[in-house]
Amino acid sequence: MTETDAIKTILAALQANFDEDQIILDEERRSAYDHDYTEDLHFLPAVVVKPRSVEQVQLVAKLCNENGIPLTVRGAGTGLSGGALPIQGGVLLSMEYFNRIIAIDTANFQATVEPGVINQVFQDAVAEHGLFYPPDPASKGSCFLGGNIAHNSGGPRALKYGVTRDYVLNLEIVTADGTRMWTGANTLKNSTGYSLTHLMIGSEGTLAIVTKIVFKLIPKPQQTVLMLAAFADAKAACAAVSKVFMAGANPSALEFMEKSGIEISVKHLQSHFQYIEGAEAYLLIEVDGNAEDQMMLECETIHGVLETAGAMEVFFAQSADEKEHYWRIRRAIGETVKAVSVYKEEDTVVPRAELPVLLEGVKAIGKRYGFESVCYGHAGDGNLHVNILKGDLSDEAWQSGLNPAIREIFELCKKLGGTISGEHGIGYVQKSFMDIPFEPAQLAVMKAIKLAFDPKGILNPGKIFPD
Ligand code: LAC
Ligand code: ZN
Repeated sequence: MTETDAIKTILAALQANFDEDQIILDEERRSAYDHDYTEDLHFLPAVVVKPRSVEQVQLVAKLCNENGIPLTVRGAGTGLSGGALPIQGGVLLSMEYFNRIIAIDTANFQATVEPGVINQVFQDAVAEHGLFYPPDPASKGSCFLGGNIAHNSGGPRALKYGVTRDYVLNLEIVTADGTRMWTGANTLKNSTGYSLTHLMIGSEGTLAIVTKIVFKLIPKPQQTVLMLAAFADAKAACAAVSKVFMAGANPSALEFMEKSGIEISVKHLQSHFQYIEGAEAYLLIEVDGNAEDQMMLECETIHGVLETAGAMEVFFAQSADEKEHYWRIRRAIGETVKAVSVYKEEDTVVPRAELPVLLEGVKAIGKRYGFESVCYGHAGDGNLHVNILKGDLSDEAWQSGLNPAIREIFELCKKLGGTISGEHGIGYVQKSFMDIPFEPAQLAVMKAIKLAFDPKGILNPGKIFPD
C-alpha cells in the first residue's frame, strides 16, 4: 500500500471524528507545516491533523499504528534539529489547540498544562502568583512547552535553575497504539520504579505523544542585576567563566557572545550597541535574588574575577529597559545569523572549564576547512552554539567540507568530556553523528526502549538514530 492509499484508508475515520478546521489536506496550507527553524529543510506531510482532545490523539495514533503510517508530532516548529519535520510524510499532528493552562496549584507549587502552551505565556501566568518557571529558551515567546519537553530545552537560566527535565513531575502520554497513561506522580520525590517521565523528556516525539504536563514551580526571585564584560580576546572571555564559579558566585545566567554575533543581531534588529574598541567578545552575566546587599556582594565577587581575568571593561545595565535591550540582542543572535549566510548550527557542550579549548578548537577546525563561524551561548553551562557560515565558500567546498568539519568539532567535544547537543536535540540533522557520543551497545539499548513504546516505528520515524 502506498502512503497515499494508507492515508485514504484513515481519512474517512478522521473526517468522521474531526471538524473541518482540524484536518488540512490542501497543499498550500500543509506547506506551513513542512519546516521548522532548522536550516532550509522542507518535508511535506500528507495530512495535518489538529486534535482538540486526548481521545482524538488516541484515535490518530491508533489509526496510524494499524496502518503503518508515519506520525510526527509538532509543537510551535521552533526546533533547531529538525525534530518536527515529517521526513517520511504521513500524518503531522499539530498540538496547537492544546493550549490550556489547566491549573496552577499555589498550595503545592505545581501547574498542570497542555503541551501547546507557549513558554512565555506560562512563565507570565505563574509569575502572577509569585511563582517561577525558569527554563527560558531563546524562542520562549513562541515555542511550546511540549516542544521544550521533546528536546529537554534549556536557555540562559538553566545555569542556576536547571533545564526542562528538572521541572517535570508527571506526564500524560499517548503511546503509538493509542494507549493513554500517566508516567509518574505529582510529587517532588519519586523512587517508584523506572522513571518513564524522564525517559519521555528529550525523546523528541519518538516514544509517545505528550498530552498533559505537571510542572514543579519555585518562588520567583524579585530582582536581577545584569553585567556586561568586554574582552579583547574571545578565549580569555571563555577562560573567565569557570573562575566566576570557583570564586563562589552563582549567577543566574552567564552568556558568551562573539562580537560578530552581536553585530549581526544589532544590525537585523536595527538596534544599537556600545562596542568597546578592541573587544572581540562579551560576557553577559545576570545575578538574581531577593536581598540586594547579598546580590551586590556577588556582583563584586564577579567583577573582581572578570578584571583579574582580563576584562577590558565591565558595566551594569541601569534599568529594566537596558536589561531587556541586552537580552534581546543576545536572544536574536541565533535567528539573525541565519539571515547573513547559508549556515549550519551546532549545539556543542563540554564541562565548563574546557570551554576555551573548545572555542580554540572550533576556530582552528574552521580555518582548516575555510569556514567562518559565529560562536555564542550558555558559557556557564559549557554550552557553545556554533553557527558555521558558508559565506563566500564555493558550493563544492561547503558540501565536501561541512560534515568532516562537524565531525571534527564533535570528536573534540567528546574528547573534552562533552557531547554533541546541550539543548537543541539530535532530530534529523545530527543523527548521522550519533556514533561519536555513543557506542553501538548504547544505541542498541536506546533502540530497544524505542521498540517497547513504538513496536512498529511509526512515531517520528527517521530521527535520532543513525541510518
Ligand atoms: C540560543 C538558542 C539558539 O541560545 O538556543 O539563542
Ligand atoms: Zn541556546
